[in-house]
Amino acid sequence: MKGIHIISTGSAVPETCYDNEKMSELVETSDEWIRTRTGIRSRHICKEESCVSLAVSAAGKAMERAGNPANRIGAVIVATSTGDYSFPSVACLVAKELGLGTDVMAFDLAAACSGFLYAMDVGRNFLLAHEDRYVLVIGAEQLSRIVDYTDRSTCILFGDGAGAALIEAADTPYFHHSGCDGDAEVLSCKGVGQDEMYIHMKGNSVFKFAVSTLKESIDRILREQKISMDEIDYVICHQANARIIDHVKKKYPGQEKKFYMNLERYGNTSAASIPMVIDELMELGELKEGMKIVCVGFGAGLTWGGTFLQI
Ligand code: UT7
Repeated sequence: MKGIHIISTGSAVPETCYDNEKMSELVETSDEWIRTRTGIRSRHICKEESCVSLAVSAAGKAMERAGNPANRIGAVIVATSTGDYSFPSVACLVAKELGLGTDVMAFDLAAACSGFLYAMDVGRNFLLAHEDRYVLVIGAEQLSRIVDYTDRSTCILFGDGAGAALIEAADTPYFHHSGCDGDAEVLSCKGVGQDEMYIHMKGNSVFKFAVSTLKESIDRILREQKISMDEIDYVICHQANARIIDHVKKKYPGQEKKFYMNLERYGNTSAASIPMVIDELMELGELKEGMKIVCVGFGAGLTWGGTFLQI
């Protein structure tokens, strides 16, 4: 085994949707400003739902589409920064809700918006040791819990959602690289017991970091795998801001169509954004078996990661 096969996917968003008009009732902003600066038109916000219920719903769809192979699941890994509890983990509650039994390693992983790619790589390493099992990898966020809805520079960006992928060992190409620099200045959110718990962000600094990191991650994958962009079917970037992705795709003339975006409808869902795109492309029939994709992400930590795999 070298790589992973995505057996099935699923995603979920809360029912309540805030469009840009709704945001302009909350803070001094406008649909025009949000659309032109970010590409976002709407985002979904939890009312009745929670991080756990979104994760259960997304993973439940992935399980159903795979014929419900509950006894094959060896691990559940949930990338999240907004779990319902500090403990138990979201992953433990998902395992219980989905009836996976107790012979399962279940844990959450915190790498902010890079989390899903980190989690998929950890899942792949689990599969190296347990080739007969499957791993449920989930990115789930209830960011509305940590968004300050009086701060117009952040609240317009974020949304809630979850995406899940059921993976198994495969003899396919695979490459992953990731990193972090320990910066707590440009993007942070305080923890349990602090005076407040909101996202604080220096947007311009994150923007510059994102553009250079995504490009470096893509180039590193192409260089180390000795492949050209022509051989890649889709480049799936963390969905933070359409202008970030536009800047990056301009560096690859003729390949722009491969950079898929759905952030217009969901905003930035952090660890959920990449699996939500993968699920959408699967549902549209755009991602087919044998296709090669590059996924690249960045986020608080600062963290980053890039994954190349054959679906
Ligand atoms: O998952 C990773 C998470 N974060 C990111 O990826 C964020 C990356 N950064 C960004 O997406 C952008 O930096 C933002 C969308 C956050 C901000 O866009 P910008 O083009 O960098 O705007 P800016 O921060 O330079 O602000 C320009 C102006 C300021 O007004 P003045 O000082 O020029 O008078 C802001 O106060 O826009 C103002 N502004 C707004 N105006 C209307 C900031 N937010 C808003 C708003 N509506 N929502």
